[in-house]
Amino acid sequence: MSLLFRALTPEDLDAMQHLEQSAHSHPWTRQTLASSFGQRYFTGSLWTADPAAGSEVESTLVGYFIADGVLDESTLMNICVAPAAQGQGLGRQLLDLYLAACAERGITQHWLEVRASNLKAQALYLSADYQEYSQRPDYYPTATGWEDAVLMAFKMYD
Ligand SMILES: CC(C)(COP(=O)(O)OP(=O)(O)OC[C@H]1O[C@@H](n2cnc3c(N)ncnc32)[C@H](O)[C@@H]1OP(=O)(O)O)[C@@H](O)C(=O)NCCC(=O)NCCS
Repeated sequence: MSLLFRALTPEDLDAMQHLEQSAHSHPWTRQTLASSFGQRYFTGSLWTADPAAGSEVESTLVGYFIADGVLDESTLMNICVAPAAQGQGLGRQLLDLYLAACAERGITQHWLEVRASNLKAQALYLSADYQEYSQRPDYYPTATGWEDAVLMAFKMYD
């Protein structure tokens, strides 16, 4: 699959909302997605190329990340891949692109939170040198109550 990478822009909101709702069990609202363009945030997105139009012409949004960056710290706030494109290495590619974007910004501490039940995402993070740092009990709402958040750090911050 030929893919193009670039930062998200507010013009991408429709595509982001569509992907968000199809990929996540508890998707962000459009309003929350729209708030990701503030100054402290940075983003990345992968698009398929339109073969009919040429390898440099975007077709469909297949994945993105949204992160904040404050001084030397970043939290990966959202990462998702379109269901039809999952399991083909795009999540790993996006995570690598996020870590590269952090390095460009001089960020050395990387945090994220993930639902305790989201073992697929945890497997991605663990295989990319994140480690569990702590847990926040009853942090995320579920259909029937609450579930814990697992707080993870990249290359454990001592
Ligand atoms: C988590 C997510 C981004 C992974 O994207 P992906 O493109 O499917 O992942 P990749 O194909 O790059 O796989 C990378 C690693 O993730 C893990 N992984 C992927 N699919 C998995 C599955 N079905 N079961 C267990 N682990 C899995 C593996 O560790 C895999 O590495 P490996 O191929 O070397 O075993 C994607 O599943 C997704 O968008 N999920 C819904 C949104 C979400 O939960 N985001 C995270 C919120 S914190």
